[in-house]
Amino acid sequence: MAESPLTWWRRKSLRFRITAAASAALAIALAISASVLLSVLTKTLIDTADESVRLQAQTVRVKADNGTLTSPVTTNDGTIVQVMDKDGRITHVTYGTDRLVPLLNDRRLARALSSGEAEFLDGRPYAINGALRVVAMRADHGQIVLAARPINEIDRSITVAGRVLLAGTPLLLILLAGASWLIVGRTLRPIVALRKGAAEITHTARSRRLPVPEARDEVHSLATTLNSMLARLEEAEGRQRALVSDAAHELRSPLASIRLQLEVALGHPEGQEWRETAEGVLEDTLRLSRLAEDLLALARLDERGGTPARSDPVALDEVVRQVVERYGEARLTACDPVTVRGDALDLSRVLTNLMDNAVRHTASKVEVALTADGVLTVTDDGPGIPSPADRERVFNRFTRLDSGRSRDEGGAGLGLAIVRETVRAHGGTVHLEDAAPGLRAVVRLPPVR
Ligand SMILES: Nc1ncnc2c1ncn2[C@@H]1O[C@H](COP(=O)(O)OP(=O)(O)O)[C@@H](O)[C@H]1O
Ligand SMILES: [Mg+2]
Repeated sequence: MAESPLTWWRRKSLRFRITAAASAALAIALAISASVLLSVLTKTLIDTADESVRLQAQTVRVKADNGTLTSPVTTNDGTIVQVMDKDGRITHVTYGTDRLVPLLNDRRLARALSSGEAEFLDGRPYAINGALRVVAMRADHGQIVLAARPINEIDRSITVAGRVLLAGTPLLLILLAGASWLIVGRTLRPIVALRKGAAEITHTARSRRLPVPEARDEVHSLATTLNSMLARLEEAEGRQRALVSDAAHELRSPLASIRLQLEVALGHPEGQEWRETAEGVLEDTLRLSRLAEDLLALARLDERGGTPARSDPVALDEVVRQVVERYGEARLTACDPVTVRGDALDLSRVLTNLMDNAVRHTASKVEVALTADGVLTVTDDGPGIPSPADRERVFNRFTRLDSGRSRDEGGAGLGLAIVRETVRAHGGTVHLEDAAPGLRAVVRLPPVR
């Protein structure tokens, strides 16, 4: 089946299409300017000829007025002159000019006299090659001066100019089309390089960057933008990989522990404390389910990409009161009414994670305070985290500072990561500070007024 011209056009390369479109526009422009040039040239040449004929007629008229006309009339540039008396008889002519028939018939003569414009005249009846421009002028005593000038050299010049344009314009067009083909090819070269670079990435997965052209142009900024996108993707992929391997690592120890307990129990069924085994297995299972819970929460946060699950008005003081109630050793020192926008369940998880940590590490007491400006603090008097760098580092996923033994009580190191990402999604910030002794977690959420 024959394809439509539009489909054919769209299938062509960008280089071809740009060159073809530019050449077409150029061809039109060149044709228009050639024809304008020709007509302007014609008009200028004819105007010049008219001017000189008029000048000659003027000179002859002055002589006719003075009665100083000679016979034959003389002109210095080959202009033909006829002078008629008031009866229309031709009295004086230039040498070799018809004495019987006037150059213009009565109708044209009347028109030329009234308008003062030059008239076209075919020269053949007067044995002159080509056309003439004729001017008529009245003199005294009813005399009329007719002056004419052959314009075949003007015709010739215009024909020559036309031929030059006819041959030169297509040649110029071909040259310009060739130049634009080369320039477009050169301009598109970095894009071809980009494409090749991209193909290499998918094939080898080794070089992870696209070639950036030296010129600071659009392709340059495209390449750098794509490269920074690739960097971000690579980083995200790296994070994902680390998360999977960390998660697998965390799964391994409770699973190994469950397996060991079950193997021991089954290997020595006699005198086995089944209850003790079940309790041990249950503890590991709880750890596993907590881990699964936390991973799921992080996955959801990642999925939403920095926005809360909902943005309802939440009475933060209510949430704080409910969470703190569950912890016997915690004291609520301030709880001003604060409303924030977000998800109540996620916000209560933030406080729960902070409380879990505080309760786990504290020596004696945990203090919680919420002030009207949306600042929530959880303070304990445990060992704290002495190094400021560590106080920041613990927000990373799977980061724990606890020594081996106390690890069993805590989670997998995801608690603070969930806190930070949830708070960020709600437009707030969270950081840890030294409470000397102990640690203070400070959460700032933007209150709605
Ligand atoms: N109140 C605290 N006092 C001292 N260290 C803390 C406190 N809260 C958190 N940490 C440290 O930060 C680490 C990360 O905490 P978190 O992300 O909640 O993970 P997890 O509770 O699972 O260990 C903890 O392992 C602990 O070392
Ligand atoms: Mg924790």
